[in-house]
Parts: sequence; C-alpha cells; structure tokens
Amino acid sequence: MRERPRIFLILFTVSTTLISNIWASSFPCGPSFVPCTQKRAFSAVLHSPRSDNFSPNSIDNHLKDELKKSMKKEIVEIAAIEAINITEKLFNETEKHMADELSDTSFKSSELAWLQYTYADQYAKYLSFAALSANVAAQKLIEKIPKKMKKAIEFLPTDQTKMKDVCPISQIEECIIGKYRSYTGLCNNIKNPRNGASYEKLQRFLPADYADSISAPRVAKSGNELPSASELSALFTPAPNGHSTCSLLISPFLSFLYDDMVHVPTNRIFKSKSLFSCL
Ligand SMILES: *[C@@H]1O[C@H](CO)[C@@H](O)[C@H](O)[C@H]1NC(C)=O
Ligand SMILES: *[C@@H]1O[C@H](CO)[C@@H](O)[C@H](O)[C@H]1NC(C)=O
Repeated sequence: MRERPRIFLILFTVSTTLISNIWASSFPCGPSFVPCTQKRAFSAVLHSPRSDNFSPNSIDNHLKDELKKSMKKEIVEIAAIEAINITEKLFNETEKHMADELSDTSFKSSELAWLQYTYADQYAKYLSFAALSANVAAQKLIEKIPKKMKKAIEFLPTDQTKMKDVCPISQIEECIIGKYRSYTGLCNNIKNPRNGASYEKLQRFLPADYADSISAPRVAKSGNELPSASELSALFTPAPNGHSTCSLLISPFLSFLYDDMVHVPTNRIFKSKSLFSCL
C-alpha cells in the first residue's frame, strides 16, 4: 500500500516528459502526426519551394556564382537543345525498334513476368526523359568547365533554356489536411510536401561524388577503380559460414526497400497486346 503513490508519481513524470518532448518537436502537426495546437493546425506553410535540404552540398556559393558567370547562356542553351534532341532520337528509335521487332514470343515467360512486374507508367517515362536529357547536356558542358568548377555543374541554371520544357514541375499548390495519409506520399509531411513521395528524389546523406561529376561511378582517390561489390560482400560474409547475425529475412527485407525506393521501371511496347494494338 505504501508503494502506490510513488508509482503514480513516476508514471506521471514519465508521461509529462513525453508530452512536453512531443510539443517541443519540429515534426509537423496534423491529424496524421502530433496533435496540433489550434494555431499550428491551419497555419502550415503549404506553398513550399523545392527544398534544397535533399542535397547536402559542400559546394560553396562563391563557386556556383563563378560558374554561372563564366558560362555563356548561349552555350548552355545549345547544349540543352542538342541533349533533348539526342534523347528524343533515342526514345524514338528504341520504341520503333520495340514495336517493329518484338512480340510476346521474343521473350521467355520469366522475362515477360519481369516486364510485367517492373512495368513503368507514363509519368516515370516522362521523368526518365528529363533525367537523360539533363545527363547528356551535362556531359556536353563538362568539358568546357574549368576543373575546379566541375563539381558545381548541377547548379548551372537551366530555367532560361529548353530544359525547362522537359523538367518536371511540382503540381502541389496546397496540401489539404485530411484524415488519412496519401498513398502517393505527397503532403504526408506538410512542411515539405514532396518529401518521401513517389517520383521524388531520394535524400542524400553525403554529397554526390561521381568520377566525372555527372554519372560515372565513383573512383578511388588515386583515380583507380574501386573494388567490386562482390569483393566487398565476400569480406562481410566469408564463405562457407555465412553471416553471424543476418538471417535469410534480409533478402526479402532488402527487396522490399529496393522496390520501394530504387525500382527501375521497364517499357513494354510490342506489336501484340500493346500500345499499338489498336493500330
Ligand atoms: C535534331 O535531330 C534531328 C534528327 O537527328 C536533326 O536533323 C536536327 O538537325 C537536330 N536539331 C538540332 C537543333 O540539333
Ligand atoms: C521523334 O518522333 C517525333 C514523333 O514522330 C517527331 O516529331 C520528332 O521530330 C522525332 N525526333 C527526333 C529527334 O527524331
């Protein structure tokens, strides 16, 4: 009997600490999150610009400005036009080839199953067009950039170029506060409505470090190739004993992560049962 008041006191202390931590958190409030005070509930900033907190960059603004000044607008514009043209040609030819040459019988049933499983929707294709064009444009420009500024290439403004026509624009103007989280992931974080949404870029924990500052795999400081993934994996899971703590569950778990985050979609354009089946 004598112990009781003390237990209550401890519980009370723990719960008030939890609650005060919640109120102090910078996590957005709303029906799906932390309960809001009246003031916070409807005053969230909803017109969010594309936030830069997705790319930690060690590139200083001085370098970005220097690059911007040293690069003639016309050169960037020409690179953009050429890159879009090349990408368009690639898409045109690939699709024509697929439509002309391939049919369901061109593939094994396992390959067809994979195609079905990784089938891309139209929006993914639109995004990949923009991404490939940007890549080609960057490759055209990188030779013209002095070495020390190469790392800043992603900050070269393209809003005055044709690239503007192919780059995705955010459709979000306002997040409606609703009862459920959205299945697209949009607006689930009302401070940064695009964070964690489908078709959005993934967050980087480290700045990008490509060998050519664009897309070539990272190399060692010496300029040599890095060891292969299988060499590294052999270091962590020496055969034949396997790993001491990872169970077989790691593979479905990693597959889940992969499908959710970096799944690479495929296109399927065949003569039969396809985009062109109505022709
Ligand atoms: C775009 O590509 C087409 C076909 O390959 C070519 O004829 C045309 O000159 C190119 N246009 C530009 C602006 O590069
Ligand atoms: C790609 O195909 C479209 C539609 O047929 C055409 O208008 C365009 O000029 C083609 N582009 C290139 C670069 O070949």
